[in-house]
This record gives sequence, structure tokens and C-alpha cells, in this order.
Amino acid sequence: MSRPEPPVLGTAPVDKPVLVAHNVKKSFSHMGNELEVLKGIDLTINEGEVVGIVGQSGAGKSTFLHCIGTLDIITSGSLKIAGEELTTMNNARLADLRNRTIGFVFQFHHLLPEFTALENVVMPGMIQGRPKKEMEQRARALLEEVGLANRASHRPGELSGGEQQRVALARALVLEPKLLLADEPTGNLDSATSSQIHDLFFEINRVRRTTIVIVTHNRELAASMPRVITLRDGRVETDERRDSAYRTSSAPNATPQKKEDAKPEAKAEAKAEAAAD
Ligand SMILES: Nc1ncnc2c1ncn2[C@@H]1O[C@H](COP(=O)(O)OP(=O)(O)OP(=O)(O)O)[C@@H](O)[C@H]1O
Ligand SMILES: [Mg+2]
Repeated sequence: MSRPEPPVLGTAPVDKPVLVAHNVKKSFSHMGNELEVLKGIDLTINEGEVVGIVGQSGAGKSTFLHCIGTLDIITSGSLKIAGEELTTMNNARLADLRNRTIGFVFQFHHLLPEFTALENVVMPGMIQGRPKKEMEQRARALLEEVGLANRASHRPGELSGGEQQRVALARALVLEPKLLLADEPTGNLDSATSSQIHDLFFEINRVRRTTIVIVTHNRELAASMPRVITLRDGRVETDERRDSAYRTSSAPNATPQKKEDAKPEAKAEAKAEAAAD
């Protein structure tokens, strides 16, 4: 398969770890037996990186993502997110770290059906007791950024699959996470819609410098990622990088870094038009 053009990404990651996993093991007990699913994972992901995690079904990708997303607890080893060790935290501190630092996008959007797109995006802020007006402003800007300004009042059932996933992406960003985690975010979508969503992930990295980890079976997406980690039977089998995918700040014709320069309105309009086609 020919290698796709590298996406436009943010400035090169700095040597500042967002995630450090050391000898991470995770077992489940199942019908009286211990099943070791993660068998000692060591890896570091730095601020601003975009990383794909691939591997066969059952390799432990979702389990690892859930652990780094604080949705599950590792059995042994060490796991640090933004410098904070997860293994010593109680549930309340884990929830606090999750809300402050992590955004999730899953294969199924998990939007609340009885709420509008705008209300769904605002929801994490409401749960956090953040000011409603500020959250609504932010949610509107995010919906515009994902090309859905004209769908804010639609309920999930009144949106296409790709639109639902874009709302889920906006929702994941509303509390401005450092780390965005996605598990098969386009597993349910056709290839054209998938590629629009993939572009959005890359744009989020470029505009916000959010660190992004995406578990995917999509070969085209994986081939375009600047770093791809392959898990096999609970271990890191390969860890391949292509750092040249990132823009250096001194590069001529560098893509604008600041959000204002990126003319999000124009982009959002273009996307809304494309989506309406
Ligand atoms: N709660 C659980 N209890 C027992 N076993 C589990 C549990 N969750 C996952 N497993 C097992 O752990 C292994 C890894 O599961 P995981 O969901 O991480 O795989 P994956 O790499 O994400 O696969 P896929 O590509 O199919 O999504 C599987 O063999 C699965 O059966
Ligand atoms: Mg999985």
C-alpha cells in the first residue's frame, strides 16, 4: 500500500512527557483464573505527539487505553500522566485528573440521545460545575471548529454517524484536555467520513498542540501517523517514528500555529459546506 501524504501537524513535540508507562501489567480475574493482558509495557509519549496504537484484536489496545485514561487500574508497574503517578491515587483524585487532563472519543459516540449537540458538548463542563455561559460559548466555538455550527440544536438521532462522532470530538475537547485518547473513533464510519474525522484529529494537534493517542485498525490512518506503536499479546512489539511529519517553527511557509491565524470560521464554513454536499 502506498504511504499517504503526512498530515499537517503541530510543532515538533518537546521532550516533556505527558505519559510515562513503566513495566505496566494488567490482569483480569476471570472464572477463578488470572488472565494477564498487559505483560510489561514501557513507553513515553511527549507533549504534542500524535501516536497510533495498532495490533491484532485482543492484543490489549483498549485495555491499555483505558488504563492510561484512568478508567481502569493497572495491576503492577508505574503509570504517570502529566507527571502524576496514577497508581497511588484514590478514585476521587483519579477522577479529578481525568477531568482536568484527559478527553475521550470512543468507537460509539455515547452521546445522550435526549440532549442537543450543544448540550452534549457542554455536559462535561456542567458536571464540573463550570459557568454555563462560558461553557456554551466554548461549545459553540468547538462545534464550529468541527464544522457543525449549523447542527447545534440537533439531537444525536438527527445527525449522521460522522456528525455524531464530530460532536463527540467537540465534547472531548470542551475541558481543554492535554491528552486526547480515541479508541477506534472511525471504526463505524465509511472511508470518506473517516478521513474527514482523521483530518480533524490532525488539525486539533496542529491548532491546540493536544497530545493525541488513537487506537485504530484503519491502515490508512496508521500509515499517516508520525508514530505507530504495535502491541502484540500485551507487549510493545514495535515503536516506529516519523518525526519529520511535524512542522518545525522555522520552516518556510509554516502552517499558522495560532488558532486566530488559522481562520477557524472559514474552515468551519468550508467543512459545513463539505458536510452538506
Ligand atoms: N474485563 C475483562 N475481563 C476479562 N478479560 C478481559 C476483560 N477485558 C478484556 N479482556 C481480555 O483482554 C484481552 C485484550 O482485550 P482488549 O479489549 O484490550 O483488546 P484490543 O486489542 O482492544 O482488541 P480489539 O482490536 O478487538 O478491540 C482480550 O483477550 C479480552 O478478552
Ligand atoms: Mg479494542
